[in-house]
Amino acid sequence: MNEMTTAIHAGERVDPTTGALAAPIYQTATFAFETAQGKEAAVDASMQGAADAYFYSRTSNPTSRVLEEKVAALEGAEDVLVCASGMAAISAVLLSQLRAGDHLIISDNLFVITEILVQQTLGGLGIEATPVDISDLGAVRAAVRPNTRVIFTESITNPYMRFADLSAIAEISRGAGAKFVVDNTFFTPSLLKPLAFGADIVVHSATKYIGGHGDTVSGVVAGSAADMGLARIQMDAVGAAAAPFNSWLIARGLRTMPLRMRQHSANGQAIAELLRDHPEVDWVRYVGLDTDPAHEVASKYMSNGFGGMISFHMTKGERAMATFCESLELAGVAVSLGDLHTLAYPMPKRDFMVRFSVGCEDVEDLIADVTQALDRVAAL
Ligand SMILES: Cc1ncc(COP(=O)(O)O)c(C=O)c1O
Repeated sequence: MNEMTTAIHAGERVDPTTGALAAPIYQTATFAFETAQGKEAAVDASMQGAADAYFYSRTSNPTSRVLEEKVAALEGAEDVLVCASGMAAISAVLLSQLRAGDHLIISDNLFVITEILVQQTLGGLGIEATPVDISDLGAVRAAVRPNTRVIFTESITNPYMRFADLSAIAEISRGAGAKFVVDNTFFTPSLLKPLAFGADIVVHSATKYIGGHGDTVSGVVAGSAADMGLARIQMDAVGAAAAPFNSWLIARGLRTMPLRMRQHSANGQAIAELLRDHPEVDWVRYVGLDTDPAHEVASKYMSNGFGGMISFHMTKGERAMATFCESLELAGVAVSLGDLHTLAYPMPKRDFMVRFSVGCEDVEDLIADVTQALDRVAAL
C-alpha cells in the first residue's frame, strides 16, 4: 500500500456489533469475561506485554490499538505503543531498556525535558549519560563504553537542527551491542523512516505532526514486538497510558498526515529561503536549504521534503526577536510545534534565536506575515 492509503486504512476495522465504519471510542476502564479462565488468560498475556489482550485500559485499549496499528504500518515497525505524551513514550523506552550501572550516549542538543529525564531521573537511578555532538561520528564512537546500552538522539535536534547520520550511528550502536533510539518528532515517517536505516526504536511526541491539530497531548513508540512488550510493561507500571479519546483524536489527525507534511515542507522551504535571503537574518538552519551544513547528509535519507521546522537568528538579537514575534499577525507565539497553525517560539536563553514551526496556511499569506514582521525589525 502507498502512504496515503496506509494512513487512511491501516488499523481500521468495522465495529462488529453495529457496523460503524469510523472506529468507535472504547471509553471503558475494564473489559468483561464470560469465564474465569478467559480473564486469567487475558491478564497473563497482557502482563507479558501483549497489546490486544484487553482487560484494563491502563494496560491496553482497542481505540489506542487502532492508532498503534496505523503508526506501525506508517513507520514500518513490527509493533507500536501509544502513551499519554511524548515524554511518557520516551520514559517507557529508556526505563525499560536501562538498569543501574548502564551507560547511554545522548545528543548534546535535545528537547529540554528529555535532558531532564536523562540527567535527573536516569542519573538518580545510577544510569550515566554522555552528551555528544550527534553530527560528529568520531565523538559518538569515542563515547562508547563496555556498558553502553542505548544511543539516543532526535533525527534532527531541537532547536539547533543538527542532523543525525542514521546508518552510521546505527553501525556504531550495533558494534557496541546498544539499542539505537531516535526521536523522529520533527520529521514523521512521511519524510524519514529511521527503522529502515538501522534504528531499533523510534519515538514521537504525537502531540506534534502525528496528531497535527494541536488539540491533544500524546506519544508513540515504534519497534520490535519484544521491545514494545517491555515498554508496555514499563508504561503500565508508571500509569502513563493514553486516554481512549486522545488516541481517537490522534488517529483522526494521522489519516491526513502525508497530505499535511507535503504542505508543511513546501511552506517550510519557502519561508527558509525568504529568511536566508533577508538582510536582517544572520543565520538560518533548515536542512532543505542547499546552503545548510546538514543538507548533503540529510538528502541521503530524505526525498519527500524537509518539513516545517526552522531555527534562525537576527543581527539585532534580543530587540529583533521580540519585535519579530510581537509583529506576527497570523503566526501564534507559543511553545509546541507541528500544528496546522504556524507557531513562533522565541528563545531568550538560546542567544535570542527564534524557532519557527511553519504551518499549513497558504504560503502567500505566510510570506506576507513574515515579511511585514521583518520590515518592523528593519525599522528598529
Ligand atoms: C522533539 C521532542 N520530543 C519530545 C517532546 C515531548 O513531547 P510531549 O510534549 O508530547 O510530551 C517534545 C515536545 O516539545 C519534542 O519537541
